[in-house]
Amino acid sequence: MQNTYNVSGIRKLFPAAKSVVYLDSGLQSPMPRPVKVALDRYNKEAYENAGPKLIWLNRTEQARNKLARFINASPDEIAFTKNTSEALNIAANALPLKRGDNVLLIHGDHPNNAYAFLNLRRKGIDVRVIPMTEIINSESFLSEIDENTRAISMSHVTFHAGHKFDIEDIGRLCREKNIYFIVDIMQSIGVVPIDVQKIGATFLCSGTHKGLFVPQGLGFLWWDKKRQELEPTYLAAASVEHPSEDFIANSNNMAPAKTARRFEIGNYNLAAIQALDAAIDLINKIGVNNIESYYYMLGDRLIERLDCLGISLVGPRSRQHRAPHIYVLQLQPKEWLEYLSSQQIRCSPERDGIRISFGLFNNELDLDKLLEAISHQMKR
Ligand SMILES: Cc1ncc(COP(=O)(O)O)c(C=O)c1O
Repeated sequence: MQNTYNVSGIRKLFPAAKSVVYLDSGLQSPMPRPVKVALDRYNKEAYENAGPKLIWLNRTEQARNKLARFINASPDEIAFTKNTSEALNIAANALPLKRGDNVLLIHGDHPNNAYAFLNLRRKGIDVRVIPMTEIINSESFLSEIDENTRAISMSHVTFHAGHKFDIEDIGRLCREKNIYFIVDIMQSIGVVPIDVQKIGATFLCSGTHKGLFVPQGLGFLWWDKKRQELEPTYLAAASVEHPSEDFIANSNNMAPAKTARRFEIGNYNLAAIQALDAAIDLINKIGVNNIESYYYMLGDRLIERLDCLGISLVGPRSRQHRAPHIYVLQLQPKEWLEYLSSQQIRCSPERDGIRISFGLFNNELDLDKLLEAISHQMKR
């Protein structure tokens, strides 16, 4: 297999991948060395210096710029959040919806995506679900849209089966029908190139602890700033366009910032933001296109070998419709998870099987170990 980057070199940056066969980056990535270095620097500064907040705030803007470039966006369209759920809730509650309006979701999508919108039922919003099918594109939604449809919210890549849905096609439909479009990119960022200009969504929502290698506790929201009618539900000093200089709240001047800062409240997770900066540098050095191609090659190899063992995939097989890095094997989690873990193989139980998900460090040897363990057990 012709690798698209120096996998053995990158593997050395993930020491945790030495002790187990880690095939669970869809749950959480092990920490790469550059991220540890950034966190160590933060801790050292916090420990040794009194209040280096200004330096950290400057680095926050540097990271915001880097993240914006990474998704072909403008930095003033990015708000930092705690995680995906917070970003989705901010988005759901910013929509100017009224009783009787409807919002479309996909059945069985990630619960953090679903709850943010199901909660709108309390405001009289009609939240509807379309079936989860192997392919989801504009046609899947078209017949469900009526004159009261105001928004569609969905995941780009599904966590439980590795579908990769056609968000550019759905984005086109939403623009045509003037429908707000919210996409959860938690499972795709860092793995699939994301270009906000091509997607044409209203909001993109994500955490950073999978394809972006940051420990849990940081997420972000991308917002189409042309949508100035979308206002924040929560407000803090940083969210208003003209924060009071004397630090006394001015109730006569509470217009939200024109930038995505309108959706930010209070202090940031400064340590994690600096970790994110380092993580994006690492990804950019390799190139997200190279990461995507490498995972597809590993995935092709995995599928070939699963075919030989007679094990089916739960999700789609074709590169067009599957995520590069998530493969759910039709093996009963109850029977298999404990066994695989006894073989030092880390993966996740999902609704319909065992989920294998790749990280930058995975190689063919990891696949060999997985498939040898499975085939050994099948022969027993
Ligand atoms: C599609 C998707 N959305 C969201 C999440 C997580 O949400 P949060 O970042 O709020 O923990 C996950 C996985 O953890 C996910 O796979």
